[in-house]
Amino acid sequence: MNQTAAALATDARTEIVNALNQSVAETVVTTMLAQNFHWNVTGPMFNTLHLMFMDQYTELWNSVDVIAERIRALDQFAIGSYKDFSHYSSVKDAPSNPPKAEEMIALLVEGHETVIKTIRSIYELVGKASDQATEDMLTQRINVHEKTAWMLRSLLEK
Ligand SMILES: [Fe+2]
Repeated sequence: MNQTAAALATDARTEIVNALNQSVAETVVTTMLAQNFHWNVTGPMFNTLHLMFMDQYTELWNSVDVIAERIRALDQFAIGSYKDFSHYSSVKDAPSNPPKAEEMIALLVEGHETVIKTIRSIYELVGKASDQATEDMLTQRINVHEKTAWMLRSLLEK
């Protein structure tokens, strides 16, 4: 058992890791939404959205690695199968028929906001366990998701 794991009680680690795995799943599903919409977006906002969605899936994909490796540092295993991603995620899969650009934006806002809610729910657990490293990582993730959700929402204003 490593030192980080040794410093945190097993029950606390298990609770934190379950919640972190949910945020891994939701981040992966949101990544896939952004990738799908990057491919399939159409309309007058094509260029802006095609590039914006690429920035998002790139950032999201890199962030999953950070969360999953935090789970490993807590001496537990990270989920990594489509079955588990869909089981753990409250973010819904992309529709089979690509929606209009505005609907894509709205679905991505929903994805980012769901991830934010999940991450917020972990704070109490990491606070109780004095797991500052996880707390710091989560704060950085909330910052990115809130900024991204704001940018997307701004596109929907008339
Ligand atoms: Fe591309």
